Amino acid sequence: MRAVRLHEHGDADVLGVDEIDRPEPGEDELLLEVAAAGVNPVDTYFRDGSYEPVSLPFTPGVDVAGVVTDLGAEVEDFETGDRVYGTGIGNATEQGAYAEYATIPTDRVVHLPDGADLTEAGGAGVAAVTAWRALIDHADLEPAEYCLVHGGSGGVGHAAVQIANAVSARVITTAAEEYHDDLEALGAETVLDYGRDDLADAVLEASNGGVDVILDHRLDDYLQFDADVATTGARVVGIGENSPDPAFTNDGVARSKDVSYQFMSMFNTPDLRVPLRSVAHLMDVGALSIDVSREYDLEEAADAHRDVMTESFLGKLVLEP
Ligand SMILES: NC(=O)c1ccc[n+]([C@@H]2O[C@H](COP(=O)([O-])OP(=O)(O)OC[C@H]3O[C@@H](n4cnc5c(N)ncnc54)[C@H](OP(=O)(O)O)[C@@H]3O)[C@@H](O)[C@H]2O)c1
Repeated sequence: MRAVRLHEHGDADVLGVDEIDRPEPGEDELLLEVAAAGVNPVDTYFRDGSYEPVSLPFTPGVDVAGVVTDLGAEVEDFETGDRVYGTGIGNATEQGAYAEYATIPTDRVVHLPDGADLTEAGGAGVAAVTAWRALIDHADLEPAEYCLVHGGSGGVGHAAVQIANAVSARVITTAAEEYHDDLEALGAETVLDYGRDDLADAVLEASNGGVDVILDHRLDDYLQFDADVATTGARVVGIGENSPDPAFTNDGVARSKDVSYQFMSMFNTPDLRVPLRSVAHLMDVGALSIDVSREYDLEEAADAHRDVMTESFLGKLVLEP
């Protein structure tokens, strides 16, 4: 089979396509014919060696959707031909999904309902599970609460806008001008350009004086901002940053409002099947769609890795073997 592999860590150019043997599923694993593999920033961190160590040669790809073609001896709940999607491979212990076939342990894969599209599901894992974990599991977002999603056009952001809307929260999000109409169509009540000088005032106005829940993917830019626009008792969930030194300029603002800060990694999810099933249900009933903005061949994996870190797009980039 064809598989994207890197033989040494480095920039996107280390990604090439190798002809290798099709993997055998372990006792509690599925072998999937890969329909789609989401392209995530974290795939580039595994590639460049800045995340946890992987064994080389290495196939990236944390997210996958596909059809079961073989099963390990201990697998009970799946059959060949099942449509499934999952996340959490392509890491220190498992090879990833940028290949014609991939194995995945059964503790991080679920069935895909008929109403959910395989290509969209390939891009759903990290983005939608992270959004679900942040807003539902960590922030306990409730109906009618104001929810600020920074960067609503991103993979996580556009899933978060829809999940917040699905629980009838009032969604405020930020994005470049070209995505404002799309994000309103996905359920945002207010969409603001993240570059505007009066962003904090605009968020306060849109939230009637303060936001209840904030999903922050750029803590180095917004740690203080979040406190400034929070209402008393607000919950902020931090999932990322550009440089690892976010800092308050006035932490007293956060203290005076009893703001809770929760930092999280999707990889710590106790049972990935739980949010995967919830996300699958939302896709099935049409409450969540993954906007696949570009599709790439395996041979274009290096372009996909450059684009996910440098280009502006709505939703997700997806590899299709
Ligand atoms: N902790 C976790 O478990 C976890 C899970 C998933 C992702 N993450 C992290 O979360 C971040 C986002 O991931 P992603 O997959 O959603 O990436 P993505 O698809 O590249 O989205 C990033 C978004 O940020 C927007 N953006 C750029 N500058 C901004 C600014 N100053 N203010 C607000 N938004 C801005 C981008 O918009 P434009 O391109 O239009 O500028 C883009 O829509 C990454 O750092 C990733 O590593 C963490």
